[in-house]
Amino acid sequence: MIVCVCRRVSDREIARHAHTGMGFDEIQLELGVALQCGRCECMARSLVQQCHAAAPMAAIENANCPGQPANSNERPIPWNSSLRSQAV
Ligand code: FES
Repeated sequence: MIVCVCRRVSDREIARHAHTGMGFDEIQLELGVALQCGRCECMARSLVQQCHAAAPMAAIENANCPGQPANSNERPIPWNSSLRSQAV
């Protein structure tokens, strides 16, 4: 369904961006939603909120580096193959 008629932005497109952890302001800049007449702003904001509420873990995951922790102080423990030989 088209949410923003002025910029032809669909609900799927907004949801796809929201699921990556983007907020409304970032999505607005990226897609141009609610930048002309503004009639779609309420619906677009509501969609972003619904997506964040449905998948709260998306905001915790580091979007720039999938699989990496959001907190840069947490470093993944590198696999050391010599540890495996010690365990056997
Ligand atoms: S409908 Fe989105 S800016 Fe006009």
